[in-house]
Amino acid sequence: MKDVSHHLVIVANRLPVDRVELADGSHTWRTSPGGLVTAIEPVMRHGDGVWIGWPGGVDVDVEPFTDNDMDLVPISMSAEDIEGFYEGFSNGTLWPIYHDLVAKPEFHREWWDSYVAVNQRFAEKAAEAADEGATVWVHDYQLQLVPQMLRTLRPDLRIGFYLHIPFPPAELFQQLPWRRQILEGLLGADLVGFQLPGAAQNFIRLVRQRVGHKTHRDLVYLPDGRTVRAAAFPISIDAAGLEELARSESVAARAAEIREALGNPRRVFLGIDRLDYTKGIYARLRAFGELLEEGHFDVEDAVFVQVAVPSREQVEQYRLLRDEIDRLVGRINGDHGRIGSPAISYLHSSYPREEMAALYRAADVMVVTPYRDGMNLVAKEYVACRYEGDGALVLSEFAGAAEELRQAWLVNPYDINGMKSALLEAYGADERERTRRMRAMRRQVTQHDVKAWAESFMTELADVGTHEKDVRPARRS
Ligand code: F6P
Repeated sequence: MKDVSHHLVIVANRLPVDRVELADGSHTWRTSPGGLVTAIEPVMRHGDGVWIGWPGGVDVDVEPFTDNDMDLVPISMSAEDIEGFYEGFSNGTLWPIYHDLVAKPEFHREWWDSYVAVNQRFAEKAAEAADEGATVWVHDYQLQLVPQMLRTLRPDLRIGFYLHIPFPPAELFQQLPWRRQILEGLLGADLVGFQLPGAAQNFIRLVRQRVGHKTHRDLVYLPDGRTVRAAAFPISIDAAGLEELARSESVAARAAEIREALGNPRRVFLGIDRLDYTKGIYARLRAFGELLEEGHFDVEDAVFVQVAVPSREQVEQYRLLRDEIDRLVGRINGDHGRIGSPAISYLHSSYPREEMAALYRAADVMVVTPYRDGMNLVAKEYVACRYEGDGALVLSEFAGAAEELRQAWLVNPYDINGMKSALLEAYGADERERTRRMRAMRRQVTQHDVKAWAESFMTELADVGTHEKDVRPARRS
């Protein structure tokens, strides 16, 4: 790595690569799961910043290194950190609260202590890495205390925070015994970014009610004279880069190979998700199974490919979900599959970008049905890959992406009959209808890509507090 201090520092729980141990005891690096990495990677490649994060694994103590032109600074985690901070407070407490209580959150004081301690370590590492007056961009729910901790260590920095997942309504957030500390942690930033305007409004309302600061529209006025802005910046993808990949000959050949291997059915349905209970994988496969059961189609007409990327496998709820889905897939295939033609091809694995692009190209109907999702970049990736303007998207109303991709077949994922109707409509829609919808969605995704997202956040971050409109008004709400 060239430099020790940087003008742009990205701080996220995970590095873009994850160190995995192979069966023979050796190690390799693999792309980390999830939308955060998909979005930040292209931003980093165009800049000369540094990325601070966990390289995965227990007590992995590696020196800063460069991967794919990105300068990476690993932060090691002990077994206790993983249990208390990562699996515990981040994914056992915050994750379910921030996702509409889809699962039951647990509250443990020792998890909170671990969250505080690990956030402090991230803040200290960022303080060391940043140049005088540098910009530090902190990401996601695992690191909500870092902005305030970092400001205490380095008041000279410009600090941005972006939440990749939903921010809950006050009624849910208030359950958190540490609600005030979290709000104060976030207020260490100059700009707090969310996926949707409703999330920013939830935050502003909570700051007013729980911390007692004055607010006006999207601004918070702190007693020390600082102004914090909270606003929506809907995240996106590298649409042009992905489309270019999808257009390549190798991806076209692989897509044809996939369809062939599936038995060349009339329609291929596709789901790609981290194996997470918020994603609605079980209900969606059940809906598909019922359509087979009722004879709307058989495996010569339609098959479902479900990719479930392994995630948080030590957390009890994730293990239970895996077992439930395994059983359901086994049952549907047992009832409806034929030799060489399963109704559902279920792949519990992660795949490189090329393979994902080939899957998107091979799929006639993409099914994205989370119970709650900050954005869902898979939906946008599918649209970016359909350069011929064909294909159909069935999308949950409760994914952030639904606010932009209005021409998808929108569904309520809790309504199995509604989902069945949408799957059938997307399956049977004529070419004109599919093209009309897809073309409109493609305009949205290509015009609002990840570069535009990062630029609008960075421009706003550079601006907060410098406008007359940021000055405390005489009458405030
Ligand atoms: O986008 C939400 C998110 O939790 C990211 O913060 C995270 O990197 C990704 O999903 C994958 O989750 P995990 O890092 O727990 O595997």
